[in-house]
Amino acid sequence: MKSIVFLRQITKIVFLLIVSIKAYALSDIEPVNLRCEYKVKPVIDVKAPRLSWELISRENNQEQKAYQIMVASSAKLLGQNKPDMWNSGKILSGSTNQIEYKGNELESAKTYYWKVRSWDKSENAGKWSEISAWEMGLLDKIEWGAKWIGYNLDSLNKNPDYHLPPSPYLRKETDLKKPVKSARLYITSLGLHEFYINGKRIGEDYFMPGWTDYNRRVYYQVYDITENLSIGKNAFGAILSYGWYSGYLGYALLVKSPQVRAFYGETPVLKACIVVEYLDGEKKIIVTDNTWKANDGPIRESDILNGETYDARMELSGWNIPYYDMRRWKPVKIYPDKAERKLQVYPGNPVRIYTELKPKNIIERPQGKYIIDFGQNFSGVVRLKVKGKAGDSIIVRYGEMLHPDGRLMTENLRKARATDTYILKGEAKEETWMPSFTYHGFQYVEVSGLQYRPDTGTLTGVVLSSVTPQAGKLETDNAMVNKLYENIVWTQRSNYFDIPTDCPQRDERLGWTGDAHVYMKSAIYNNDIAAFFTKWLEDLNDAQLPNGAYPIYAPMPMKNGMAAIRPSDSYSPGWMEAGIICSYELYKAYSDIHIVRKYWQNMKKFMQFLEQKSAGNYLLKERSFEETNPKGGFGDWLSIGKKTSPDLLATMYYAYCNKLMAEMAEAIGENSDQMYFKENAIKIQQAFEKHYMDETGKLKINSEIYGNVNGYIEYRPETGFHGHTQTAYANAIYMNLLTPVQMEVAGEKLKDLINENLGKLATGFLGVKPLLPALSVTGATDYAYKLLLSQEYPSWGFEVVNGATTIWERWNSYTKEKGFENNAGMNSFNHYSFGSVNEWMFGNMAGIKNTEPGFRKFIIKPEVPGIGINYVNVSYHSINGEILSSWKKEGDKFTLTVSIPVNTKALVYIPAKTNGFVYLNNKKLEKKLENGYVPVEIGSGEYIFSSVIER
Ligand code: BGC
Repeated sequence: MKSIVFLRQITKIVFLLIVSIKAYALSDIEPVNLRCEYKVKPVIDVKAPRLSWELISRENNQEQKAYQIMVASSAKLLGQNKPDMWNSGKILSGSTNQIEYKGNELESAKTYYWKVRSWDKSENAGKWSEISAWEMGLLDKIEWGAKWIGYNLDSLNKNPDYHLPPSPYLRKETDLKKPVKSARLYITSLGLHEFYINGKRIGEDYFMPGWTDYNRRVYYQVYDITENLSIGKNAFGAILSYGWYSGYLGYALLVKSPQVRAFYGETPVLKACIVVEYLDGEKKIIVTDNTWKANDGPIRESDILNGETYDARMELSGWNIPYYDMRRWKPVKIYPDKAERKLQVYPGNPVRIYTELKPKNIIERPQGKYIIDFGQNFSGVVRLKVKGKAGDSIIVRYGEMLHPDGRLMTENLRKARATDTYILKGEAKEETWMPSFTYHGFQYVEVSGLQYRPDTGTLTGVVLSSVTPQAGKLETDNAMVNKLYENIVWTQRSNYFDIPTDCPQRDERLGWTGDAHVYMKSAIYNNDIAAFFTKWLEDLNDAQLPNGAYPIYAPMPMKNGMAAIRPSDSYSPGWMEAGIICSYELYKAYSDIHIVRKYWQNMKKFMQFLEQKSAGNYLLKERSFEETNPKGGFGDWLSIGKKTSPDLLATMYYAYCNKLMAEMAEAIGENSDQMYFKENAIKIQQAFEKHYMDETGKLKINSEIYGNVNGYIEYRPETGFHGHTQTAYANAIYMNLLTPVQMEVAGEKLKDLINENLGKLATGFLGVKPLLPALSVTGATDYAYKLLLSQEYPSWGFEVVNGATTIWERWNSYTKEKGFENNAGMNSFNHYSFGSVNEWMFGNMAGIKNTEPGFRKFIIKPEVPGIGINYVNVSYHSINGEILSSWKKEGDKFTLTVSIPVNTKALVYIPAKTNGFVYLNNKKLEKKLENGYVPVEIGSGEYIFSSVIER
């Protein structure tokens, strides 16, 4: 008996010991991927920057219960746990992102170091993260002390077709007397620039400082140039180009606008400030001012749309290294600043070289020409490595496709000359050149002027894109779908180029708002586009029109209150809603409520504009947008078959925007706004039902509803407009504008319309994104897969089997029967709008869908087809970490492997047969089947589910 008591006591002590060890135990929860304003160790100018981290732990169902952040002015202080800037203390919160800095005021040009630790679900603290940092830019314009300097060459190179003046070269030399401890270059331009120190190009960025409304703001970059400087003489040099500031833009030339270039100013100018700190702490500052000298040089023409011409015989040998003879150089001119123009750190992802491509095929053409096929359509330029006589011109023309007779197809470039020329200096060795200030959308180039057959080293494809970090991976056992995905990714890469462009090849390349919002959710699955869209949303809000409407593209240069590229460009339903939808998508994907707050008043102004338009009817009735060009707006752009009424679409978007506004209002605690938008959405839905729907739930087709809207694009009095279309039902379902009964009817109608159309889609830009999601949500997954897997015209597969390497602008951009019938107008082979099927591939095929902002909670509900695909392996790196949904179907056996990041929760739906069982890591789950799935809620970790499904 005694010994039993003794044993009990011992057990109790051991137990208490274990418990107390556990209480003091360090958790293995660890913050990683520390970022500030969406970037790793960035330079910023935000006064209350947002910090984020992700968590890792070996333990399943792991969560963060609390965190602590320390920020110090030196790494040393932080290492000693002496946070002289901010010690958040232990904050009871599960948040790991969008955490605003709340410490002492941040100062210009200083670096701040930070670390974070988390407490796990058992309240045990994990170890401190590694130290990260951010650096502040110059917070006040005054601090630059630099002037805008330039050299006016505008009067040169004017010809009847184009006005392409040479690039100015600017330089200065300075003595540095003592060893340098650290040095920074703060640099921007109105136009584009490249900067050199002692012969070396600074940074890897291209097309800086990006396109903005230069009247309101211009961005700058900051580079650490400590290693570039030396004691003694140092040379600083810049090359400027016309870029978006003073070059050609869009289709201005094509549509014969009063102005075709130089929309913001005539002469590109540079502003730079070099801050040197010597080892002894003394500072030296070098700025752009009237001591700089200028000249023209080998870049004889440089323009984004039209290309670059480089005459190597005119090289200014040694111009960017010290001890250069400057006698022939002229003084620069100082240009005035605009007081209201903000100077801010570039918030986006700069354009850089993504990769290089070797020629796949070299084809000889008549007259000594060659066509080089890079095997991939992309944005960028070619680098030449050539030999020849002094004065020989190597001319490179760019194109996306070849004509059947082998000629380079350039008709679809319209007025974009897209030609680069290199004039040889005639050296014995090979001469290497790549243009600096232009880019093209192409798969093929035609090179002329070579005296020999080029080989695979003569021309290299240089791929340029904004560096948005990769977030998604998608792979299936279906080769066509894999190729489609690859094409989508290449199209995004080609068009996320400082701003989201429509296409990279023709004389357009504008930030079309409709394209941007229909594709944004798809883009989010592929790449981390938070910083990229932070930048563009600023452009979009800067471009908001005085009446509150968001424009059809942004930036939108203005002249006399009208769009300067084409005076009739303004706003359009289906496009302008990007101001609401893109902010909403950013908020949902990255839990970015900051963006919602920032633009809240702008968004409300837009909503007021819509409200005025609806004139108390809660509808955007026929002719509501008669003043726009085209009348009524663009509608379901590039759809085929019956045309959906643009006003009906406008009304649906009106309801949808109200819903999104209500949700965003709730997120930022604007309660009365929330109520208001919620009620509005209901009223619009009711009005929509009354006006457009018959008693059976069918959307009306009779012309009295849609009226005589002569002048509307694609309106034909004989055929009129319709509501009974794939696009209309798909949108109504996707936007959730229907009662459950109406939803069911709409699902049936959608299927009927597809059947009537011989199983094919008929949607345009606005209809294609919701089409497959709408089929899935109404239970017609088999239809969605049929459309996805089709290879007949019109379909995604049709493009793939016809050799596409990017997404086409039109379903019929090319057909065997009719060739390129649309070239004269618009026929891009690199246009992401129809790539919006990606949203369904990630969200339904793999089944990864966000249910709480930032993927804090999400579902994984794979949709499994009867035929065509048996294996899907998809991952998505969310702001909370990596999510995996990988499924396999072998006969009637189904396996699903998932990975759920720490601090998130997933509701996983495992498909199973009626009366079938679901196993988790080989253990049978006692769960009930609901609509063909067994739902299981899980926390972080990796899990393998298996089940038996219908074959
Ligand atoms: C662009 C589109 C854009 C459209 C407006 C086109 O020229 O390339 O993508 O949305 O105009 O309808």
